[in-house]
Amino acid sequence: MSLKKKYRLISLFSGSGGLDLGFLNTDCVEILLANDNNKYACESYANNIGNHIVCDDIRNLKNLPQADILIGGPPCQGFSTANPNRSLDDPRNWLFKEYVRVLSEVNPDIFVMENVSGMVTLEKGIVLKLILEELENQNFDVQYKILNAKHYGTAQSRNRTIIVGTRKGLNRTYKYPEPVVYPPLFGQFLTVGDVIIKNPISEYVHNHDVSKLSALNEERIKFIPQGGSMKDCPVELQNNSDLKRAMKRLHLNDVSPTIVHNNNDHYYHPIEHRRVTIREMARIQGYPDDYIFAGPKSEQSRQVANSVPLPFAFHIATSVINYLNDTRESY
Ligand SMILES: C[S@@+](CC[C@H](N)C(=O)[O-])C[C@H]1O[C@@H](n2cnc3c(N)ncnc32)[C@H](O)[C@@H]1O
Repeated sequence: MSLKKKYRLISLFSGSGGLDLGFLNTDCVEILLANDNNKYACESYANNIGNHIVCDDIRNLKNLPQADILIGGPPCQGFSTANPNRSLDDPRNWLFKEYVRVLSEVNPDIFVMENVSGMVTLEKGIVLKLILEELENQNFDVQYKILNAKHYGTAQSRNRTIIVGTRKGLNRTYKYPEPVVYPPLFGQFLTVGDVIIKNPISEYVHNHDVSKLSALNEERIKFIPQGGSMKDCPVELQNNSDLKRAMKRLHLNDVSPTIVHNNNDHYYHPIEHRRVTIREMARIQGYPDDYIFAGPKSEQSRQVANSVPLPFAFHIATSVINYLNDTRESY
């Protein structure tokens, strides 16, 4: 029998469960309930993680059980508004409001809200201030920090705002995880080569179909070196897209830029003249090869790109567990 404490966790906006898997990998949580309204993400979650996912709009989540931990990042498009009278009462921010509703119902000891790093500067920081105030009003001490997944054992540069709230009165300070690598001071980044080449991907693995290139892209990619992009093509092969971003080819000895969904316009393989597969994206996000993504390819891409990288999620989860263990010891 494990001597580790099992904390009860509720997961919102769970997607295919990247953040959830980070917590599960600590072996210290039991997920009571997860929620998402995307049927393909829910199918992936249910098949690979468990049937505790409720596939429904968050507004329909009612009568939730008590839990120690609440996790999840509401999509934040609604915050990006040019409305001079903006406030969190703006109906477009209802996803955040739903998170707050669940937070007040579940009343966990600690919550984690993950979001894009741009959230911090949105509307000159006013949006973040409103969010933090609203969360504090639920009786939580709230802090935020931008962390980069590359410092936490992930072969990818991915900045994320991590908001953590601890219920007032618990008398312990939550501490963000320390980086596990911080070159050149200590350690080396995990690289694209480390995760997609060193341990070759079996042809029998799921989600590993190579997409066909157009004749024009086949021609262009021959000119693009590792780490390069369409800017490296002869002018006659360029188009009017952002040349530094279009047809980005990954570098074997570097971290990947942030994995994004971008309508299947995926990065290119470091040495082969093709785009990376969903499986290669999933490796960069830290998913194990036996995790199978459901749905059409564009939905698989969305799930992988939406995820919190698993090693990053694991380090965040560990900091949460340490906090809870600490509060329990003080009883
Ligand atoms: C950034 S993704 C979450 C990724 C997840 N944390 C992970 O690590 O894999 C946000 C999720 O919110 C879900 N979502 C958006 N609107 C929703 C709603 N009204 N009710 C429930 N889920 C919703 C989306 O389907 C998407 O999967």
